Amino acid sequence: MIIKTAEFVVSNTDISKCPKPSIPEYAFIGRSNVGKSSLINMLTNRKSLAKTSSSPGKTQLINHFIINDEWYLVDLPGYGYAKISKSKRDIWQGFIKSYLLKRENLICIFVLIDVRIKPQEIDINFMLNLSENQLPFSIAFTKADKISKNQLNINIENYKSHMLEKWEFLPDIFISSSVKQNGKDEILKYIEKLNKSEAAKGLQL
Ligand code: GTP
Ligand code: MG
Repeated sequence: MIIKTAEFVVSNTDISKCPKPSIPEYAFIGRSNVGKSSLINMLTNRKSLAKTSSSPGKTQLINHFIINDEWYLVDLPGYGYAKISKSKRDIWQGFIKSYLLKRENLICIFVLIDVRIKPQEIDINFMLNLSENQLPFSIAFTKADKISKNQLNINIENYKSHMLEKWEFLPDIFISSSVKQNGKDEILKYIEKLNKSEAAKGLQL
């Protein structure tokens, strides 16, 4: 898919104030600092469409971007950041929970996971919650440039085996690096395919 336009639409914490759910939507979520905002910029060829930071906790709101006037990309706050108060930390409370559960045009949630680290309970629990609520998700591993190819393969195989202890089937998996631009074509192609799926077609009002 060629990205012709990518524009910021609105930021908020209130699902009723999100744009009309009439076109397909894809949300990016994961632990604080995992690289959600950077991946959004990489996919859209923009340096600072989504705000990034080396210190965790940068993204605090639900941020909608419209791509090619056809679909929404959503940058969400990270979970698991210790400096954020406990009440703000639980992703399955508050506005993120209602966003994920109620946003009817949400075609796929990309769960971002730092490929360098071993499976973390917080990510596994987050994905278990998605599954329990029948919310479609895929995994995008991030920061692939930071480890060797060999270590990358080991870590991904390890992650898959870990998941198979809890899930019968694995989700679709992407490997990305915002620095090296890896994973861009694969993720955009996947979104393009989903935009043409039955779930997305039902939305185009
Ligand atoms: P929050 O909004 O705070 O939850 O963080 P985020 O998940 O949006 O992360 P963000 O994109 O702001 O990136 C966090 C840090 O990781 C920044 O310093 C980025 O430059 C760095 N980073 C993100 N992606 C990559 C990557 O693929 N490779 C490398 N080497 N660094 C990355
Ligand atoms: Mg961010």
